[in-house]
Amino acid sequence: MRYEEFERERLDPIYDIIEPYSEMKKNERYFLNGIIRALKPKKILEVGVSAGGGTSIILNAISDIEGAKLYSIDYSQTAFFFPDKPSGFLVEEKFPQFMDKWQIFRGGDASRHIEKVGGDIDLFMLDTAHTHPWETMNFLCVLPFLKRDFSWTVLHDITLYTDPNGRLSTNACRYLFGHVVSEEKITPAPDNEAAGFSNIGAFKVSECTFKHVNNLLESLLIPWDRTVGKNDREDIRKIIEKYYSPEQYEFFCKALKFQDYLAEHPASFKNVMKTVMKHSTPGVFNFLRKIKHSVSRNKTTQMEV
Ligand SMILES: C[S@@+](CC[C@H](N)C(=O)[O-])C[C@H]1O[C@@H](n2cnc3c(N)ncnc32)[C@H](O)[C@@H]1O
Repeated sequence: MRYEEFERERLDPIYDIIEPYSEMKKNERYFLNGIIRALKPKKILEVGVSAGGGTSIILNAISDIEGAKLYSIDYSQTAFFFPDKPSGFLVEEKFPQFMDKWQIFRGGDASRHIEKVGGDIDLFMLDTAHTHPWETMNFLCVLPFLKRDFSWTVLHDITLYTDPNGRLSTNACRYLFGHVVSEEKITPAPDNEAAGFSNIGAFKVSECTFKHVNNLLESLLIPWDRTVGKNDREDIRKIIEKYYSPEQYEFFCKALKFQDYLAEHPASFKNVMKTVMKHSTPGVFNFLRKIKHSVSRNKTTQMEV
């Protein structure tokens, strides 16, 4: 099913209100609306709120689903592009009628709040830092709280680096979307047709996702693009220790130490240049010798390489 086509008329009436605040593109917004309308989840978790564009789409989509509730978590007290307003302010300002189906936790990583949200989550919307290892860390901390037999995770910005302005260190969502084991991964038609791949996707979480979660622990060995501070490490560590096996917890702790080692031994430009020169020297000499030989033998001869 093309979720971006499903029940579009549900989102249409509020589309123009959220548009100036939403950090998603058109098909991405309709995809989020459509997947919720089709799956009718009861317990939804959103991590990464900003002004509340995605939050409003979700709340609008569940407003007629009896017993449905959205829990949101944002690291920051204030909205990223509106620093004088709280994260998720859009809901209170524009959609007060949705407030009774919503609870937000502000301040700190998802790992700090996830136990308050609790288990049996049907749908998880993840849109946080985009710099590795954050999305993988977020997913590892939320996974034990997702419905084990059947739930879905929606992940935004999986090709953010298509945008030349967003190319730097924005691989985290792609690492997670690519490495997670899932029975089904889906994406809508891309908003940027020339790029060919969509910037939002969803994957089914089921037994195989849990079984192969070590793939995601392995991803933590990919060099990190952003450090994880002491308090966040502690919040995350507690969740991994409590909800994963002792072997997985040990691997996690080793991965943290490994990243510390990498950070303490950075590649310096001088050393990289030294290595390049050392390895390319014979090639450079051969190249120069060939030019000299070719010029002295016959000025019109094509140079062999
Ligand atoms: C790209 S914005 C979210 C946009 C929003 N989903 C939308 O549709 O408009 C990223 C948000 O994630 C939050 N964030 C970053 N790292 C986080 C973390 N580890 N846990 C929770 N929130 C985080 C940031 O404070 C920011 O508000």
